[in-house]
Amino acid sequence: MMTEPEADCRLCDLYRKRTHLVLPTGDKNSPVALVGEAPGENEDLQGTPFVGRAGQILNKILEEIGLPRSQILITNTVKCRPPVNRIPMPEEMAACRPFLDSELYDRKVIVGLGKSAVKDLLGYEGPMSQIVNTRQHIRIKDRDILFIPTYHPMACVYKPDAREQLKLTLIMVKEEFLS
Ligand code: URA
Repeated sequence: MMTEPEADCRLCDLYRKRTHLVLPTGDKNSPVALVGEAPGENEDLQGTPFVGRAGQILNKILEEIGLPRSQILITNTVKCRPPVNRIPMPEEMAACRPFLDSELYDRKVIVGLGKSAVKDLLGYEGPMSQIVNTRQHIRIKDRDILFIPTYHPMACVYKPDAREQLKLTLIMVKEEFLS
């Protein structure tokens, strides 16, 4: 069962500037969850994760590998847009964590898209190049769940190698968990 924030959630200060809460999209029963950083401007306006520039990049890669968005769960570390798209602060991620945990609890694999997700879920703050596409395990309540760190779609804009790595992550999870 997923626990959602109240519509007027004020558990952290991000409520002050938000238009919409941005809740998970996709298949609520999928074995696979992708966790991004935080909603951006378009996500805040539409109330849906990954619908702006990062979403277009993600959609293109998913299309290339034949993996429909409707087969996976897509969410973020925090459900409200940080002002001027700054990185979410630890206390904001902590306030939203119970909701994230409830979204992730039933998954077979969790993909951390970029530094914020990897920091929040794995506690790792080093270079992404050291950890990308490794198999980690994280504890979500009483469960150990496979966690794969990878690049954020926005990190792929001018970095073909990051794009290749992200694509590889998604091919891997598709073949292993969705075929
Ligand atoms: N970037 C993210 O990390 N998440 C979104 O939902 C949009 C952009």
